[in-house]
Amino acid sequence: MSTLFSELRIRGTLLRNRLVMSPMCMYSSEDGFVSDWHLVHYPTRAVGGVGLIILEATAVEERGRISPLDLGIYRDEHVEGLKRVVQLCKEFGAKVGIQLAHAGRKAEDYPPWEREKVKVRGSREAIAPSPIPFGENWLTPREMTKEDIEDVKSSYRKAVRRAVEVGFDLVEIHSAHGYLIHEFLSPVANRREDEYGGSFENRVRFLLEVVRIARKELPDSVPLSVRISAVDYVEGGWILEESVELAKLLKEEGVDLIDCSSGRIAQEESFTEYPGHQVPFAERISREAGIGTIAVGMIRTYEQAEEIVSNGRADLVAIGRKFLRDPYLPLRWAKQAGVKMEVPRQYIRAW
Ligand SMILES: Cc1cc2nc3c(=O)[nH]c(=O)nc-3n(C[C@H](O)[C@H](O)[C@H](O)COP(=O)(O)O)c2cc1C
Repeated sequence: MSTLFSELRIRGTLLRNRLVMSPMCMYSSEDGFVSDWHLVHYPTRAVGGVGLIILEATAVEERGRISPLDLGIYRDEHVEGLKRVVQLCKEFGAKVGIQLAHAGRKAEDYPPWEREKVKVRGSREAIAPSPIPFGENWLTPREMTKEDIEDVKSSYRKAVRRAVEVGFDLVEIHSAHGYLIHEFLSPVANRREDEYGGSFENRVRFLLEVVRIARKELPDSVPLSVRISAVDYVEGGWILEESVELAKLLKEEGVDLIDCSSGRIAQEESFTEYPGHQVPFAERISREAGIGTIAVGMIRTYEQAEEIVSNGRADLVAIGRKFLRDPYLPLRWAKQAGVKMEVPRQYIRAW
């Protein structure tokens, strides 16, 4: 009996298994539009048997892009291409989510492979809770006014409406990795003295407001996930106890899943990556906040993934880089587990 290969229903979304393709930027868009790359890349993983695909960080605003090549959902015209990706993935049995993102002070004006060439990284358009650059060699972002905060919230509202129009099975708010919402959460990046800074209640305000907007715009049947950096790994940064308290508040707002990543708020953070290094975060948040979780980070083997879900340490397991190497990972792991999985008829002779 495999838990990993058992179904899971979250609100109206029925997943065929507990494997998630973790959101991963493909830097393959022009002006935020879906390209041929996306039409090949995502449906291939659906053919490979994954339960849920979460599309890469997708910008809710042009100035909120991690790079100019990010996928976007900040124009009505973006809906059509996204619909095509979602339809294709669904045709091959996967459910599809979208990760809504705003890069804040980590927005950059060039693709990642040109980073080495620029003397000072960042974007001239970048906004953030406080005018503190990400690092020494980064541009200083503009401190957001109350009007900016309202504008960004309105961009999230429009983005969620478009996501509903596309027909996504889940929406994830990107509140991790040092991007805008994480910048509000963490004292490392947030030095505001108004109601959005200082105390825990003030630092979580912006995320809670975004989540409230998202939940209001989403049909009851569509699950809402929030990816957080459960810890900052820097002195004076966000800590795990705050993640647990935040998860309790998010649960009250109708969030279904906490996708538990970590770090990336500061250049000087120190941590080591090792197999399953973030799983304890998911486990503690599940247990203490009583909310569904996604575990992610160097989950590399079937046994490791099975252990996590079977022992109830997380509800879902997200895989990142391994999915870039092997789109057919779920089919392979199912075979290893002795679980019969539906193989596309075109491929049956190979399995
Ligand atoms: C190429 C690449 C792009 C990524 N882009 C995103 C992203 O858009 N949003 C996000 O939350 N995490 C992003 N990540 C992090 C992954 O989702 C994942 O959390 C991380 O790679 C750890 O999982 P893994 O060890 O299975 O790769 C990215 C990772 C890679 C390798």
